[in-house]
Amino acid sequence: MSRRSGASRGYVGAIAGAFALSAAASVGLTVLYALGGQPQIEGGLIGVGLGSLALGFVWWGKHIPPAGPFVEEREPMASPTVERQTFEEDFARTEAAIPRRRFLGRMLLVALGALAAAAVFPIRSLGPKPGRSLFQTAWRRGSRLVTSEGAPVAATNLPVGGVLTVFPEGHTGAADSQTILVRVDLSTFQPLPGRESWSPDGYLAYSKICTHAGCPVGLYEQSSNSLFCPCHQSVFDVLEGAKPIGGPATRPLPQLPLEVGTDGFLRAQDDYSEPVGPGFWNEGP
Ligand code: FES
Repeated sequence: MSRRSGASRGYVGAIAGAFALSAAASVGLTVLYALGGQPQIEGGLIGVGLGSLALGFVWWGKHIPPAGPFVEEREPMASPTVERQTFEEDFARTEAAIPRRRFLGRMLLVALGALAAAAVFPIRSLGPKPGRSLFQTAWRRGSRLVTSEGAPVAATNLPVGGVLTVFPEGHTGAADSQTILVRVDLSTFQPLPGRESWSPDGYLAYSKICTHAGCPVGLYEQSSNSLFCPCHQSVFDVLEGAKPIGGPATRPLPQLPLEVGTDGFLRAQDDYSEPVGPGFWNEGP
């Protein structure tokens, strides 16, 4: 028996050990993750899992296949006795290697299976499904408009050209419901078709969340009736349903339909005309 054969047998154990270590690290990672996780230890286990798997592959490729040099004679000739004996030994060694390879193959499957299970587990980290929450805000039919301090906004509060950030009553601070309220000169304003009743006394209300990347649209220029987003300079035309007229935003700011209640305070007729902020529903340029 050659020295090579003895050495490769020794490596079978080492390779199987590497695959077993990889499997153990992956199982440990899965268990640790299920128990709440610890980033440093998780990183270490991933390193051990992948590193020992790679080591097993390297050893397998380097030490298990038959080693050369292999020589092919040009002329057919009778095999001398020594050559026949060598061939028989090689053949026997190859036969003996088949169960070892099967064993290593199984260990490899165990390691890969454990690694795949550990990789699938973090899907749980994506959290609960958002459901309809992306399509709704806290605005409801009849919600009074209030300032960030919770004070209701009367229809007489803002002069023409005035601007105010408002929330639905009872939800001050609700990030998805922050709204910019602008009062425009009725003589310059023509409501969009279907929105004739949304802007009593020249009050227009739009979502404050930029449809480009979600920054707050907070700057109003009365002379051009434009709203500006400071992040990437998107500009929205207040008189045209807040459609974008500059910058990277491609979708108008959703409008909040308003009415004046019998108590003289501004109220929402309903939720916004569309989902707020940037999102998968964007049509793009
Ligand atoms: S977030 Fe408003 S322009 Fe980019």
